[in-house]
Amino acid sequence: MNRQIDRPKVVLWRPMYHPVGHSLLADKGAELLVVDSGDLSVIKEALCDAKALWVRTPERVTAEILDAGRNLVVVSTSGLGTDNIDIAAATERGILVVNHRGFGRVPVSEHAILMILALGKQLVSGDQAVRNGTAWNRRSGLHLTELAGKTVGIVGIGFIGSELARKLGCAFGCRVLGFDPYADQRLCRLAGVEMLPVLSELLRQSDILVLVPELTAETRGMIGATELAALPKGALVVNVGRGQVLDLEALLRALDSDHLAGAALDVFYPEPLPQGHPLLANPKVILSPHVAGTTIEASFGMAHSAVQQIDDCLHGRMPSSPVNPTAWDCVHSRRPDVKRLDAKMRTPALVV
Ligand SMILES: NC(=O)c1ccc[n+]([C@@H]2O[C@H](COP(=O)([O-])OP(=O)(O)OC[C@H]3O[C@@H](n4cnc5c(N)ncnc54)[C@H](O)[C@@H]3O)[C@@H](O)[C@H]2O)c1
Repeated sequence: MNRQIDRPKVVLWRPMYHPVGHSLLADKGAELLVVDSGDLSVIKEALCDAKALWVRTPERVTAEILDAGRNLVVVSTSGLGTDNIDIAAATERGILVVNHRGFGRVPVSEHAILMILALGKQLVSGDQAVRNGTAWNRRSGLHLTELAGKTVGIVGIGFIGSELARKLGCAFGCRVLGFDPYADQRLCRLAGVEMLPVLSELLRQSDILVLVPELTAETRGMIGATELAALPKGALVVNVGRGQVLDLEALLRALDSDHLAGAALDVFYPEPLPQGHPLLANPKVILSPHVAGTTIEASFGMAHSAVQQIDDCLHGRMPSSPVNPTAWDCVHSRRPDVKRLDAKMRTPALVV
């Protein structure tokens, strides 16, 4: 960044998950500003002369925020999900959005297994009972279960879903079913997933349901009361994908009626859950604060990816993972050098 562009200002809305990203950006010659506040007037002021914005969920990049960044060339997500960015508004303004694909494969599949095992072994309530001295009288009343031999239904067989399927099949002896109308069939075969063309069929057979599809118009609200009722009695539900895929009111009702034995959630809607939300007091639920993908290792990889892609964009190069590539070629594109290249291309036409 340093020679061709005079210390471009890069705003980080909240610190990166791994500090290596901050030092890499500084090494590239960026003027770095970390905004660790949700106050919109603060972020808007910070953006007024910025070339790049990196944003961490749940902060939301709306059209209003984009308008404050009059010189913004690129907005980078913190991971794969782009639901906190108004992509259409960015495209209209010629701002490229980049994300970071595949980094959830290992950490989120491990987290899903952790949650499945913790539910089956009642790890969290057992831990609490040992600490408060009630454990030893309750031991025989616990109903711990084994993962071996269970049928696990996975919705969304992408990077994470396929890795999870492979681990569950190879290491735990599970039967793994998958539902994903857009999945790469070769990936599914390699992962040992038995793909089903209809969601209701997967639900009917799954002792454990794991949700890891991307968030789209189709998957938003995909699992509600009807879908939960289709699961066998005593089933477990794990959501490590996106909160909006699962209707939390319906989940609570299915838990309270004892149709479901438990649920484990890393993602929510809304996020964070408001204080006093009934899920927070439900003993059948295990919660983690949307951290499945933020291991030290994955955060390191995502920081490198963000710095590389921001650097590419600020030099007018197409980055490796553009979300809205048309923003790069449209009339209003903010791609550096585009106007100069455009002028060069137009000159002969004008002569003719
Ligand atoms: N909890 C976390 O910390 C965390 C971390 C990383 C990723 N994620 C989320 O996990 C999800 C999956 O991530 P990934 O890296 O595997 O992404 P991916 O793009 O590799 O996989 C997503 C899969 O969802 C599938 N899909 C799309 N529409 C579907 C539908 N209607 N029904 C079923 N499947 C459908 C796609 O075909 C794709 O195979 C994303 O929502 C991502 O945001 C969460």
